[in-house]
Amino acid sequence: MAVIRSVIRGVGAYLPKRVLTNADLSRIVDTTDEWIRERTGISARHIAADGELTSDMGIAAARQALVRAGVDPVEIDLVICATATPDRTFPATAVRIQAELGISKGAAFDLQAVCSGFVYGLATADSFLKTGQFKRALVIGAEAFSRILDWTDRSTCVLFGDGAGAVVLEAQPQHGGREDRGILASRIRSDGRFEELLYVDGGPGSTATTGHLRMNGREVFRHAVQKISGVIEEVLVMTGYAADEIDLYVPHQANARILDGIARKLGVTPEKIIVTLGEQGNTSAASIPLALNSAFEQHKLKEGSLVLMEAMGGGFTWGAVLARW
Ligand code: UT7
Repeated sequence: MAVIRSVIRGVGAYLPKRVLTNADLSRIVDTTDEWIRERTGISARHIAADGELTSDMGIAAARQALVRAGVDPVEIDLVICATATPDRTFPATAVRIQAELGISKGAAFDLQAVCSGFVYGLATADSFLKTGQFKRALVIGAEAFSRILDWTDRSTCVLFGDGAGAVVLEAQPQHGGREDRGILASRIRSDGRFEELLYVDGGPGSTATTGHLRMNGREVFRHAVQKISGVIEEVLVMTGYAADEIDLYVPHQANARILDGIARKLGVTPEKIIVTLGEQGNTSAASIPLALNSAFEQHKLKEGSLVLMEAMGGGFTWGAVLARW
């Protein structure tokens, strides 16, 4: 039976020029390169320049994705920007990106699910494309997390970085089987009882300030492997695939130990895991499209590759998407 699937036509990414190494951080807070690398797998991260905005990074990533997809911006009728660090409280950063790309039809909005934002964005765009409301979507993850970090808190400021990634999705008729291209299954979840484990201590509606990121890392870590493995198993059951049939595992990049734990639990072999954490840190909603871009540039993403994406973040929010490239 023919069905409409959201096929990923192109991927792009952008990283700011400035690199902050662990050695640089050891001059700012009481930390060491050894501690950061051993506990997280991170060696360096990119930091947005003064005046470089989330929208600037998102636009650069989107332009590259559009060129690689061979899609003209005016053919896009849905722009979703997953971000927890919008340029302004309103309007949405997605609307600025839409305007800069010369798009004035369809809809553009931001999506706030913190580190799970890109997975939420893919699931949301997929729903619109499958119902026929829109035909081509840009899903962007873009973050300037450096602007919400407390640079005196060594337990959080060493973990995050800035950047953006984007994909172009297109509604295409497919056969309706598990060999189809495009998004085959997605699952998104949230549970607000865990808000106090990972949050920003400010906001326009509470303190009228931006606030700083606060995290109980040990507790977040404890939940991550279990929650992420749960949604991955759900998308595998929905599609009838076994974990060893996955060609590429493209996870949110929070901690190398979390990635290893999930891969071990699922039985995914290390060469199938895309790890960008070492040079980028945790870029929140941008980390999955940045990792997809890295896989694409290393020629690991081929037409027909079965790709698993997953994330967990503040809220808690979490989710997984299984797609065929
Ligand atoms: O993307 C959103 C989701 N976020 C995550 O998934 C993050 C999940 N959590 C983690 O990745 C880890 O919990 C962290 C990397 C944040 C922390 O690693 P940990 O092994 O859980 O360390 P910890 O928080 O239990 O701290 C261990 C020790 C503490 O010292 P004491 O109390 O044992 O004396 C910390 O004060 O390490 C200390 N510490 C540091 N030492 C040097 C914390 N941060 C640092 C640091 N440098 N940067």
